[in-house]
Amino acid sequence: MLENLKPQAADKILELMQFYREDPRDNKVDLGVGVYKDATGHTPIMRAVKAAEKQLWEQETTKSYTALSGDPAFGAAMRDLVLADTVPADRVAAIATPGGTGAIRQAFELARLANPDTTVWTSNPTWPNHLSILKFMGLPNREYAYFDEASCTVDFDAMMASLADVKAGDVVLLHGCCHNPTGANLTLDQYGKVADLIAEKGALALVDIAYQGFGDGLEEDAAPTRLLASKLPEMMIAASCSKNFGVYRERAGCLMAISERAEQTANAQGSLNFLNRQNYSFPPDHGARLVTMILTDPALKADWMAELEEVRQGMLTLRQNLADELRQRTNSDRFDFIAQHRGMFSRIGATPEEVLKIREDFGIYMVGDSRMNIAGLNDRTVPLLAEAIAKTCA
Ligand SMILES: Cc1ncc(COP(=O)(O)O)c(C=O)c1O
Repeated sequence: MLENLKPQAADKILELMQFYREDPRDNKVDLGVGVYKDATGHTPIMRAVKAAEKQLWEQETTKSYTALSGDPAFGAAMRDLVLADTVPADRVAAIATPGGTGAIRQAFELARLANPDTTVWTSNPTWPNHLSILKFMGLPNREYAYFDEASCTVDFDAMMASLADVKAGDVVLLHGCCHNPTGANLTLDQYGKVADLIAEKGALALVDIAYQGFGDGLEEDAAPTRLLASKLPEMMIAASCSKNFGVYRERAGCLMAISERAEQTANAQGSLNFLNRQNYSFPPDHGARLVTMILTDPALKADWMAELEEVRQGMLTLRQNLADELRQRTNSDRFDFIAQHRGMFSRIGATPEEVLKIREDFGIYMVGDSRMNIAGLNDRTVPLLAEAIAKTCA
């Protein structure tokens, strides 16, 4: 039977990683995969994570199963991190999931359980996994306009116009901050307008938040999600710990479901537990436990926040330096948006042919839609990239 299996289409980002590895040039630059790198090109383990791991090694006495939801303390810690006191805790159900992607998958499953006829609305463009998981699950998907290719900013009027077709019972997937792949974000005021529209339509918002702390700060980056939660009767939040705790391979994520009334939370929690049981039973615990320890220990939390802030500032500096270099080389403000974008990514509006030329001529690797990982740059490579863009795209 297994002979019936067909080759699967290669994941574009993983394929790019492969090309990069095979490129013999010493001065090649990887701006593809969404992983934070320091100035030496290394993805470090955060200090607080190392310290928590040491404590855990000394204190942990069992590796027995936790709960189907994961440790409830993790759900509570993530609720506090993302929502603070925006909604009463008794309206929030939560499960641990294998990374943020696991949370996205379970959110789609929960939506389908609640409404088998749901259509999921995603931004154009969005993180490719949103689309591929929806397709694999056979869930109807519609796109809403989001990005203006010419200015590399959000086309808010077009976005609102396309969301006018949303129906009651549909899911509207929003990026909580640091929009991947574009780096162009809604203002808080615009998030408020989107929330009003979703409420008016009777749809369910799903917020994917994978970069809290990478944009304007931990609290600032949570503000859109909190605003939506304060305006909407119910909502889902898929939160990833991969990037902001640097625990990519541990697969730590959390799905929260906010019900309109506290009496509904038990059913929401039961459904989330059920979905974990059906898909993989108990979720991974190690990364989630480290995150819980960090968020509930004032000293570890302070150190984590300090290091996250260093990372954030580093990325802002890289953005500004790249925008400055491009201004100088192109003698125009065409690429100023790079300094305004937030998070790890920016889509720079180059054509696929230009992206390929930059790869071939300069050994600089970015995804075909011209999404680049800002965190893959450093002081040495910023001028190289600016030169490549100026020579190829100007
Ligand atoms: C928008 C978005 N959501 C969710 C994730 C989930 O990441 P992970 O499954 O590694 O936690 C990512 C990772 O790139 C992302 O960019």
